[in-house]
Amino acid sequence: MSWKWIILVLWLLYAVAFIFLLRRPPPRGRRSSRVSLGERALRLLIIGATGGTGRQLVRQALEAGHQVTAVARRPAKLNFSDPKLQVAPGDVLDLRSLEAVMPGHDAVLCALGHKQFFWPTKILSEGTANIIQAMQSANVPRLICESSLGVGSTSGQVGLIGNLFVYPLILPFYSWDKLRQEKIIEESDLDWVIIRPAKLTDGAARGQYRHGPEVGGYFMPVSIARADVAAFMLEQLRNDRYLGSAVGICY
Ligand SMILES: NC(=O)c1ccc[n+]([C@@H]2O[C@H](COP(=O)([O-])OP(=O)(O)OC[C@H]3O[C@@H](n4cnc5c(N)ncnc54)[C@H](OP(=O)(O)O)[C@@H]3O)[C@@H](O)[C@H]2O)c1
Repeated sequence: MSWKWIILVLWLLYAVAFIFLLRRPPPRGRRSSRVSLGERALRLLIIGATGGTGRQLVRQALEAGHQVTAVARRPAKLNFSDPKLQVAPGDVLDLRSLEAVMPGHDAVLCALGHKQFFWPTKILSEGTANIIQAMQSANVPRLICESSLGVGSTSGQVGLIGNLFVYPLILPFYSWDKLRQEKIIEESDLDWVIIRPAKLTDGAARGQYRHGPEVGGYFMPVSIARADVAAFMLEQLRNDRYLGSAVGICY
């Protein structure tokens, strides 16, 4: 067998092994929230507000009439103003900055992400542990957190290119940290929902998409617009259907 074939076979074995390494049983889910948020306008704290999904969350939350605190490492980056919007400086790796801004909110929407793909990081897991600690200290009951399709019980459901290239070659460290992030959320006593989107696009919201623990597929690529992800995340503030579980979303 030539070297080319040996490398190809090893790479395929690694890609398949990686799918199994990222696989976890689905969280059990919960029937009802500990704290009901009712029908009033909410006070929402948005993490990752300067990012792609975060900006959609801020805009749509304001349009829905909520009060929004957008947490940003560099507040000027948001370049957006609204009477119901407060922009607060904060870094998820700095617990005190979160504790300073957390009191008085009804829920946290987290669209945290970064681009440090090629070496081990704990930004997502440590950052989320800090968010949860700050929420618990301030009695903020509900966390809606954006993760990724292809993690945990949806490992492998990201299409062939995702399975052979993106996850094993570009995102192994990142996905590993996402797995830890999800575990930390699952172990918390908050009312939480983990949202696992397919490949994100900046397209317009379609308003129609598939969601559930089993969406995605092993071969065909799947995607979803950040605008639709944000709308779905906001829906989870009052909808208990996926409470205590991780839900995939894609077209
Ligand atoms: N891209 C995809 O195809 C895809 C697919 C599925 C899931 N996802 C996941 O979806 C999530 C959102 O992705 P996105 O592309 O919409 O977001 P994004 O544009 O990458 O934005 C990430 C946000 O996180 C913030 N952030 C990073 N480190 C921080 C820190 N230490 N403290 C506070 N904020 C920090 C960034 O702030 P700065 O502006 O200061 O950097 C930014 O606002 C990510 O978790 C991503 O992995 C992505």
